[in-house]
Amino acid sequence: MSFMESLFGGGSRELIGLDISSSAVKLLELSKRGERYNVEAYAVEPLPGNVVNDKQVNEPRVVGEAIARAVNRAGTRTKNAAVAVAGSSVITKLIFMPASLSEHDMEEQIKAEADQYIPYPIEEVNMDFQILGPSAKDKSSVDVLLAACRKEQVEQRMAALEIAGLKPVVVDIEAYALENSCQFLRHQMPDGGKGKTIAVVDMGASMTSLMVLHDLQTAYTRDQAFGGRQLTEDIMRFYGMSVEEASKGKRLGTLPENYQSEVLSHFLADMAQQIDRSLQFFFSASSQHSAIDQVILAGGCAQIAGVDAAIQERLQIPTVVARPFAQMSVASRAKPAQLAQDEASLLIAAGLACRAFDAPG
Ligand SMILES: Nc1ncnc2c1ncn2[C@@H]1O[C@H](COP(=O)(O)OP(=O)(O)OP(=O)(O)O)[C@@H](O)[C@H]1O
Ligand SMILES: [Mg+2]
Repeated sequence: MSFMESLFGGGSRELIGLDISSSAVKLLELSKRGERYNVEAYAVEPLPGNVVNDKQVNEPRVVGEAIARAVNRAGTRTKNAAVAVAGSSVITKLIFMPASLSEHDMEEQIKAEADQYIPYPIEEVNMDFQILGPSAKDKSSVDVLLAACRKEQVEQRMAALEIAGLKPVVVDIEAYALENSCQFLRHQMPDGGKGKTIAVVDMGASMTSLMVLHDLQTAYTRDQAFGGRQLTEDIMRFYGMSVEEASKGKRLGTLPENYQSEVLSHFLADMAQQIDRSLQFFFSASSQHSAIDQVILAGGCAQIAGVDAAIQERLQIPTVVARPFAQMSVASRAKPAQLAQDEASLLIAAGLACRAFDAPG
């Protein structure tokens, strides 16, 4: 009973993290010596539009071929992979089970009772569970975290990995992977994040996700359908360009001189407003928090020159661009200079890659 081998699977081994996102397949492999992490391999392989949309893999073959190219370019021989599904396609539930049951019996009982917990037909979901520990209310029970995911979400990703000759060993949830990778941002947080309230904003192609951490634990998350695609469309409209011209131009900085003042500044103002609004939702949802100590920007849009200053000015909160690998050594085959440019968009991949070092569970 599992998403695959296990949603919560663990144990140290060689593993690549694969973020299958709407604009690209992002591969990252880490190793760990003592407390130090190293980047062993990485590659980003762009995807054509609509192959992955709304976190749904529409064309597993195209994605599989992109993964195969990424593996090749990264130069890794590792076959085990960790991928993630969107939190919106997963239901988690805390249930209670008799502490006396063996894991096997617990699995049988959960399966038999699953229709009580899951609002979908049981044959349409993959399930996994993790025993969290003794129940606070009742000593003879244990708390069990049950997770269920629509099968198609997992199966499309597995199909893509199989085409690339990889073996999926961990299926995580994107928000968990993002939270997990925030350990690599501690050097950018005041007091290493201890007792602090930090907003991590992942500004991707189609989605901007806010994650508020308090004391390094997730306190709030919110997704908005807004991202770099909007900027590409603005450029296309303003200059009458094709998608290819627009997205290349914004990355390479080859757009006409009035791009900054006529296009980019409006996009940055919109982005800052979106983030501001999400923060207001957070403040109204949680009475204990009334201030953010630090904003950390991630995702491809964090690579826009000057984005940190523009957002800091609007929010009046210290703002930096995420540098998850700044304190790691980077193998030469992982192309350190290129990695430094891409690192802000590799947080989910990094969170997945470090599932390699989970304590065996
Ligand atoms: N240097 C740059 N300047 C401007 N925009 C950039 C730059 N680098 C990347 N981008 C933009 O960032 C976006 C891609 O970011 P990212 O890789 O985080 O998205 P994604 O993870 O694929 O998207 P999503 O999470 O929404 O599925 C694209 O819109 C791309 O054009
Ligand atoms: Mg993303």
